[in-house]
Amino acid sequence: MPIINRIAEFHADMRQWRRDIHAHPETAFEEHRTSETVATLLAEFGIAVHRGLGGTGVVGTVEGRLAGSRAIMLRADMDALHIHEKNGFAHASQHGGKMHACGHDGHTAMLLGAARYLAETRNFAGKVHLVFQPAEESQGGGRRMIEDGLFAKFPADSVFGMHNWPGLPAGEFAVRPGPMMASSDHVEIVVTGKGGHAAMPHLTVDPILAASQIVVALQTIVSRNVHPLEGAVVTVTQFHAGDSWNVIPPDVLLRGTARAFQPAVRDILEQRIQALAEGIAAAHGASAAVRYERHYPSTINSEAETALAAATLDEIVGPARVRRDMLPSMGAEDFSFMLRERPGSYVWIGNGEGDGLHHPAYDFNDEILPLGASYWARLAERLLSG
Ligand code: NI
Repeated sequence: MPIINRIAEFHADMRQWRRDIHAHPETAFEEHRTSETVATLLAEFGIAVHRGLGGTGVVGTVEGRLAGSRAIMLRADMDALHIHEKNGFAHASQHGGKMHACGHDGHTAMLLGAARYLAETRNFAGKVHLVFQPAEESQGGGRRMIEDGLFAKFPADSVFGMHNWPGLPAGEFAVRPGPMMASSDHVEIVVTGKGGHAAMPHLTVDPILAASQIVVALQTIVSRNVHPLEGAVVTVTQFHAGDSWNVIPPDVLLRGTARAFQPAVRDILEQRIQALAEGIAAAHGASAAVRYERHYPSTINSEAETALAAATLDEIVGPARVRRDMLPSMGAEDFSFMLRERPGSYVWIGNGEGDGLHHPAYDFNDEILPLGASYWARLAERLLSG
């Protein structure tokens, strides 16, 4: 069975919601208008609405017409990015410097479409919790909702997420059990030496030289410490030091990101970054202060729930259009916190050709709105069949 006919009937409405949200992007924890739009629509559909988790988070609960005690959670994200949009179309951002460049406008519209269908039909047993989270981009809005009692207030047996994926053809999905996205941690290293005259280096402890060797040595973690078949990234993204031609500065600030799929690999990254930075600094007579901040965990799909998600996708677009062989991404996803609490699955929906995520000319593909909404609706009916 392809797209649900009833959902196809409100394709135009979903497009309108999507474009309205796109034109009014709001960034982390400031999704007040978006949150209001979502809550108003859910209420219009006859859905019980709870607001305030994670600040601007919204949860709608649809009860099935069949008896049942199970519940699932479907999650969309609502936040935009600090990017100045380069598109010139009518629904381009009206908020300078902010943009829906990750398609969260589309994610919100697809879950709203599913919400409307599920509220009309209620052809399931139990409860579907529709979670609209703030601040997916870097700020951990999903974690905030959990800390505010998401699973205590809305008990659920399993959780499901979906993200659009540019480059994957429209009409296709991708899903796999196990890791789908990486953990993402922040690394900061302050290397302290002894500054002085650049012409008299023997009277100084040059932190730039020590820090340069630390940057090089960090490359050995992935190549020498991590199992060759495991994924990991250590990238230095900032190197700040000095402001003169003839002065050796007293210290250097390095920053970067460390990513992995497996928690044990994440531990290796943290330990080795610390050991290399401190050891190399010490060898130069300098010192290194390392701050390793665990940010998002890896997004790990459970076997059983992923099999159910994939079977649902097979039903909608046919098995040939459900990619099970795509490599996971080293990007990170706040949904990982929900997957740590409950089993579940996170899938990618093809956004087709065009610019990639976080690009100033990106746009969500409105053609896929009914596909994503149909997946959500069928998934709920399959998991909560009476
Ligand atoms: Ni995103």
